[in-house]
Amino acid sequence: MSFTQWYKEMAVYQIWPRSFRDGNGDGIGDLWGVLEKLDYIKSLNVDAIWFSPLYPSPNADYGYDIADYKSIHPDFGDLELFRQVLDEAHKRGLKVFMDLVVNHSSDQHPWFKESRKSKDSPYHDYYYWRQGRKGPGARTLPPNNWTSLFEGGAWEYDANLDEYYLHLFAKKQPDLNMSNPKVRSEVKDILRFWLDLGVDGFREDVVTFIAKAPGLPNSYPRLPIANGMKYFSNRPEVYDYLKEFRDEVLKDYDCFTVGESPLTDADIALRYVTEGEGQVLNEMIAFSHMEADCFMTDMLRRPFSLRKMKRAFSDWQYKLAGKGWNALYIENHDHARIISRYGSEDYPVESGKLLAAMYILQRGTPFIYQGQEIGMTNIRLPEIGMYKDVASHNNYRIFSKLFGKKRAMELLKETSRENARTPVQWDATANGGFSSVRPWFNVNPNYTAVNVAAQENDPDSLLNFYRQLLAYRKSEPLVLYGDYLELYPKDRYFYAYERSYRGRRLLVICHFSSLFHDFTAPADMDLAEGKLLFSNYKENGLKDRGFSARPWELRVYEL
Ligand code: NOJ
Repeated sequence: MSFTQWYKEMAVYQIWPRSFRDGNGDGIGDLWGVLEKLDYIKSLNVDAIWFSPLYPSPNADYGYDIADYKSIHPDFGDLELFRQVLDEAHKRGLKVFMDLVVNHSSDQHPWFKESRKSKDSPYHDYYYWRQGRKGPGARTLPPNNWTSLFEGGAWEYDANLDEYYLHLFAKKQPDLNMSNPKVRSEVKDILRFWLDLGVDGFREDVVTFIAKAPGLPNSYPRLPIANGMKYFSNRPEVYDYLKEFRDEVLKDYDCFTVGESPLTDADIALRYVTEGEGQVLNEMIAFSHMEADCFMTDMLRRPFSLRKMKRAFSDWQYKLAGKGWNALYIENHDHARIISRYGSEDYPVESGKLLAAMYILQRGTPFIYQGQEIGMTNIRLPEIGMYKDVASHNNYRIFSKLFGKKRAMELLKETSRENARTPVQWDATANGGFSSVRPWFNVNPNYTAVNVAAQENDPDSLLNFYRQLLAYRKSEPLVLYGDYLELYPKDRYFYAYERSYRGRRLLVICHFSSLFHDFTAPADMDLAEGKLLFSNYKENGLKDRGFSARPWELRVYEL
């Protein structure tokens, strides 16, 4: 992890490789495609790329089930090609971060294959193998009542060993036993391997889950998803393991670490990211701001609440202020597209610009997910047979039982993370310019209108707005380091906040509505005296001490 400050000023572009760009004509995105697009990525004014997993994987969870931690999936290329991408990225001043997925491996990883051969295997203890419990009558029950996040119960029976193994995600993603020093040694080895190759850091997958409570106790009440979370989320040992990785490996490299942290609030995050002697991660990936239209899981939908979203952002902004650094994002490969969720498909450009400024102008490192910069929206696949993701199928099964198939399908269409996994829309030619052959997954039919080529030459496009915004942020200490203060926190239509730095102030006004509402600036702010830096409408008149805000209107003033 980095002990210097460079990560605070960077912006990161996330690539989910299967859907980014197919360079070798097999319908699957790959590193040849990335090579072709490095200049494009650089042109966004970002400073780094985070690759979702590139490793060999049977794709039970599209790369998040790793069968070899030190190689590249043949679909994407090979190590030689990866080195070339790394080199070319570095030449352009782009850093490269890998996805470190060590809460679990694939069941096809040699460690797991060995571990299931016999109880005496030196690899047996790399995973959580346990005997079943005696249930009523002669029944045997799994070792405890935890449920996975992706595929029913959290335990899978193996007849050969007459034991069960733990999987918090899919059955084909057995959890690694991080309490075993040999497993930690493997992790340190993986870290060194990639750092020695020249990568600049890691996004650490579900890092808050990597330790489990001793004895793996039962949990009550029983939830159909993630039951037992208090026994596998943010256990005190997570910190110890991360410290060990830091002390024995990361401190020797000038690298960046960001930990994905589901079920983690800002107070807990501070355990890991508070700057100083005790810091073990540079940043955490928060979840609370992504729950403004749902409850705990994206499928449990409720109407979007602006106040809920604001509370979540502000909570992290305030609590981390002066102590730690935020990771800022509104999209990734695990959530539906943001314009379709928090914005409006009726006002895609206006709401796209508003959402961009809303989060990029906060304090932290912005992450931009592929396609977000052109305003890609949800595809809403209409039939369950069209979905490929293990989590989509699990959600459909659970929610069909709860609400019936019709409702489950409606929920899946809106909330499935596969909405974010359609191929990137490069131009208006066949397959959105993603591939010369039929792509592995459906292209959103709106590619003819929404694509990179169409936006390149339009100075008012969302794409060029992202470029301007990111260039401005990088050059402006007010945005990089200024204090954050939320205004009108109770307001239902406006998210307004102020950034201030050495006597200078920035006012960000975001109107979250398709109707008109009046905005009035605080008494100590005279908008007429301010300089309008960003907006998403052409005319920007003022009225009284504010203006009548149009649908999804954004204004950013320096005062
Ligand atoms: C979080 C990743 O972002 C997600 O895509 C994956 O399915 C789970 N972790 C399990 O690795």
